[in-house]
Amino acid sequence: MILIKGGTVVGPTGPYPADVLVVGEQVAAIFAPDQGPQEGDFETIDATGKYVIPGGVDAHTHMELPFGGTFASDTFDTGTRAAAWGGTTTIIDFAVQRTGEVVQDGLAAWHGKADGNCHVDYAFHMILGGVDDESLKAMDTLVTDEGITSFKLFMAYPGVFYSDDGQILRAMQKARDNGAMIMMHAENGPAIDVLVKQALERGETDPIHHGLTRPEALEAEATSRAIWLAGVAADCPLYIVHLSASKALEQVAAARDLGRNVFAETCPQYLYLTLEDQLGAPGFEGAKWVCSTPLRSKHETHRADLWKGLRSNDLSVVSTDHCPFCFKDQKELGIGDFSKIPNGIGSVEHRVDLLYQGVVDGKLSLGRWVETIATTPARMFGLYPKKGIIAPGSDADIVLYDPAARTRIGVETHHMNMDHSAWEGYEIAGKVDTVISRGRILVKDGAYHGAKGHGQFVRRGLSDYLI
Ligand code: URP
Ligand code: ZN
Ligand code: ZN
Ligand code: ZN
Repeated sequence: MILIKGGTVVGPTGPYPADVLVVGEQVAAIFAPDQGPQEGDFETIDATGKYVIPGGVDAHTHMELPFGGTFASDTFDTGTRAAAWGGTTTIIDFAVQRTGEVVQDGLAAWHGKADGNCHVDYAFHMILGGVDDESLKAMDTLVTDEGITSFKLFMAYPGVFYSDDGQILRAMQKARDNGAMIMMHAENGPAIDVLVKQALERGETDPIHHGLTRPEALEAEATSRAIWLAGVAADCPLYIVHLSASKALEQVAAARDLGRNVFAETCPQYLYLTLEDQLGAPGFEGAKWVCSTPLRSKHETHRADLWKGLRSNDLSVVSTDHCPFCFKDQKELGIGDFSKIPNGIGSVEHRVDLLYQGVVDGKLSLGRWVETIATTPARMFGLYPKKGIIAPGSDADIVLYDPAARTRIGVETHHMNMDHSAWEGYEIAGKVDTVISRGRILVKDGAYHGAKGHGQFVRRGLSDYLI
């Protein structure tokens, strides 16, 4: 048993002083200050001056993702350990059906990578690499038998993960029938490929051209098209992933104002980093920030609009889209041709901190911080109330967050398997202090006490937001 005493519990509705009793793997009770057990067979953790929040739920990670002839550099071991250090106690990773592969075989391969290797609990979405009669049937099986209730489709990357509009519509109709969520990578891939080819023909090979050939219009157009297609599929639940730009957000907001079944996430990189300052770094350095959707211009209103979208709930979730690649030998694959740079940024360790900085900066309330990093992703993807909340009966996934300490992010101190940090030198006024996963202390007093194999696969139900 553990008694977390003297802290300020923060839930999605805001902060309140309380003591939390953990028995075994679950939260047993929440007490008004000092009203809990006074003595007994329990360890007391002093939370004075700290926030006591539900462990983070990162609904978008890519451990070991195959991309551009290489693999994301974090394994489930290194990536979930880094997540734990950063206060994230559940990840939802994307299992991959490669084009031509049987969906269940892709899923089995993902279980093979993760089983016994995770430090925190994990669940899967399924990337559909092809939509046909077989994979549509598999969607039903995954929902009913495998605890996988969300499917990602790509309007980008023709020839790799791409689905055309007819395939998208069929998958949406299936999701409408079985209650699954369709997650959409909303960028117009065929149009982007034209711009990429033209840029390369002009000799524009530097990393910044990755961003310049993926203009906001092609994210907004794809977002809008996905929303219209979901409407044709009787308003199938639709979740836009890694939304980066104002005009795409406008599409989502307009649909939500109509009461549509449309949701979106953004990621820390779009809230803080920019096309000019990062992607446009001198020489080939910008490759560190090549991701899709791309970072947007600092001269436009994207970042301010995204923070506003988080407040207004037009953006419901902050995920990382953690997809790390080392600079050496991986990002370097794109020297002389930006289109060969593996797409992705690694941030699984930093999401809780980076969003807390939003609280410090007056952009988010404490309750909204917890809601966007833990409670809503748990509800969105059928993990609630096991995850995402500190409540009796919920898993004891708990983070003590110290607002008086500071975090300095950098490659020397992070735990992700990357030779650089997209956040080098960032300083946060706050720090993950103690991390508990299903009643087991993983991080305390600056030391790591977890182990691979502690993390278990979690079968998910349907989204709480399903209408
Ligand atoms: O650049 C990114 N986002 N890489 C990961 C794959 C994806 O599209 O989410
Ligand atoms: Zn994507
Ligand atoms: Zn609105
Ligand atoms: Zn992704």
